[in-house]
Amino acid sequence: MNQNKITAETIRAMKARGKKVAALTAYDFPMTRLLDEVGIPFILVGDSLGMVVLGHPDTTHVTMAEMEHHVRAAARAKPRALLVADMPYRSYETVARSVKNANRLVVAGAEAVKAEGGREIIGQVRAIVAAGIPFCGHLGMLPQHVREEGGYHVKGKKEPEHQALLADADALVAAGAFAIVLELVTAPVAGEISRRIPIPTIGIGAGTDCDGQILVTPDLLGMLPWFSLKHVKPRLNAAEQMRAVIRGWIDNVNASRTR
Ligand code: KIV
Repeated sequence: MNQNKITAETIRAMKARGKKVAALTAYDFPMTRLLDEVGIPFILVGDSLGMVVLGHPDTTHVTMAEMEHHVRAAARAKPRALLVADMPYRSYETVARSVKNANRLVVAGAEAVKAEGGREIIGQVRAIVAAGIPFCGHLGMLPQHVREEGGYHVKGKKEPEHQALLADADALVAAGAFAIVLELVTAPVAGEISRRIPIPTIGIGAGTDCDGQILVTPDLLGMLPWFSLKHVKPRLNAAEQMRAVIRGWIDNVNASRTR
């Protein structure tokens, strides 16, 4: 094995070393390879693929078979980064199902799994960790619950929500999670959780006091010009650059046809 291979333990230990965790999503071989070549330590095959690759309105449409397909593609890049796979909607409803499906993602090439929730899935988290599969938590806005919640709402504003987030974070730590994604959590609450727990928090729309940050790569690169998000300002207008290149190529093709 590559001596420099990044494991879940490496990510966990980054907090004690004062190192921030920069994490991005990838859904296929070329993006995984590109992210790995620039040194991202944590690559997530997110179920966001349902929206940003497959064109669904939310992540609840993603199946295990689709996750396995994309994890296999990403794993072919053999990244030095830790390759984490999302457990899709309803794939971890029971303890037995969660271990079986986490194993399927590992067989496809994942080195760790992530699932959404805290105390309500703690039996599943314990069982996945006991099966030897590193587990990353996900608290705050849980995209797999978007339909019952009626949208993407910031969490932690109300005191009961704040207390629930602290209790969920503690429970995930006790169950053996190596890191926790905090999505759309108020910055003060995300900061409080980050100071409270020994494992890294990786924020998305959760302020700058987290131990790391994660973004959906197509959002960062401006590949989805049809949607705008409050928590990310694209650093490239990839969609417009691609359109310009393709228009130029079409013009060349059309020009070369004339005799
Ligand atoms: O599915 C995903 O890409 C995610 C990130 C937004 C954290 O869970």
